[in-house]
Amino acid sequence: MTFRERALARFPAGSNGEYGLPPELVPVIERGHGCRVWDTDGREFLDFTMAWGSVLVGHAHPRVIEAATQQASLGANFAAVNRRAVELAERVCSLSPCAERIRFVASGTEATMLCLRVAQAATGRPKVLKFAGAYHGQHPVGVAGMLQGRSTVPPHADPSGAGASWVENDVLAAPYNDLDVTAEILAQYGHETAAVIVEPLHRCLAPKPGFLEGLRKLTRRHGIVLVFDEVVTGFRLAPGGAQEYYGVIPDLVAYGKALGGGFPLGAYAGRADLMEVVDEHRLPGPKYAWSASTTGGNPVSCAAALATLDLLAEPGVYPGLHAAGAHLRRRMREVLDHAGETAQILGDGPLAQIAFSATPVTDQATWLASDRTRGRALLLALLQEGVFLNPMGTKLYLSLAHDDAAVTGFIDLLAAALARLPAPSPG
Ligand SMILES: Cc1ncc(COP(=O)(O)O)c(C=O)c1O
Repeated sequence: MTFRERALARFPAGSNGEYGLPPELVPVIERGHGCRVWDTDGREFLDFTMAWGSVLVGHAHPRVIEAATQQASLGANFAAVNRRAVELAERVCSLSPCAERIRFVASGTEATMLCLRVAQAATGRPKVLKFAGAYHGQHPVGVAGMLQGRSTVPPHADPSGAGASWVENDVLAAPYNDLDVTAEILAQYGHETAAVIVEPLHRCLAPKPGFLEGLRKLTRRHGIVLVFDEVVTGFRLAPGGAQEYYGVIPDLVAYGKALGGGFPLGAYAGRADLMEVVDEHRLPGPKYAWSASTTGGNPVSCAAALATLDLLAEPGVYPGLHAAGAHLRRRMREVLDHAGETAQILGDGPLAQIAFSATPVTDQATWLASDRTRGRALLLALLQEGVFLNPMGTKLYLSLAHDDAAVTGFIDLLAAALARLPAPSPG
């Protein structure tokens, strides 16, 4: 039996989540280096997902590996604050504008979930407002309102396979980039709402000028905790993430992905008075939220994170990431135009995404109105051409390892992949 067959026999859809590939395309990855990965058949791919953005410095970076290996020989986990965790807590709080106190967890899912629980405990309110289409991790609120799903009465979020019926009642979904509708929903439900959670760069959609600032004002007005999900944007758009990049400071922030340099690590952090609700001296409450993560803040992940942040602190890194992203999006535009495609190129910083749409894509409704069947066909064709990515409509991630040759290589493969699609319909 091949590894593909073995994977298909044991993993639903042959994957550990997402991808949703046709069985014959399911790859089993053997190793990675820089911006390339190899599967168990020996096939080389140019990696444009980079472990869904968690390996921002490139696969198997020698400095990250050295830091993690050295630490592993001293013990992998103590489920307790350790030397590396203290160093990392100080580093993250020095970079993140809103972080006065922090706790480590093992994933972005836990980080956003804890932000919401802290907000609920601190305010004593049950509801959460998120933006339609947002993914904040695999907990029920994280996936609510993410998919098209069955329709619910707006502003109540579609459970999107959340497996939790309370979601419909307690999760409100507003259209991203629409301050007026958000304000209307909060005028009705603000007194019951604990948190507004937003991914500042919503998937790959940039905030309209004034949107994040407006959310800051609205949440203050209603006494609601503003949570930034910076699992993607953290340490990627700027050293201080989207808060620094867009100049809006939330009350709480969730980190994951790039922070751990590929090792499992997340963090939630923010205003000291809010973070105090997880202080065990408050047990059994009121205003107490239970928070404990067995592997969160393990010293190996923290050592890898410190090495990652050292690499990201080197001169020219962020201008380089932004220049690479702009260059990639420009070249993608050229190729799509040349192929006669009607498409929007989304993204900011080292992120990009294609939407087959004649009109701008700014929120979930305009994204759903784009030709997503063509989008998926293109991503599958890219995979067949040798680009490793996630074809569930997710973004393309660049890393420090993507040099000009990698971008040029991708552009050639994009042209080849477009040629595999049926001709675009005129107009
Ligand atoms: C914006 C955002 N938040 C949260 C998460 C969940 O992170 P994790 O997969 O580490 O649980 C993701 C994962 O893709 C994400 O993109």
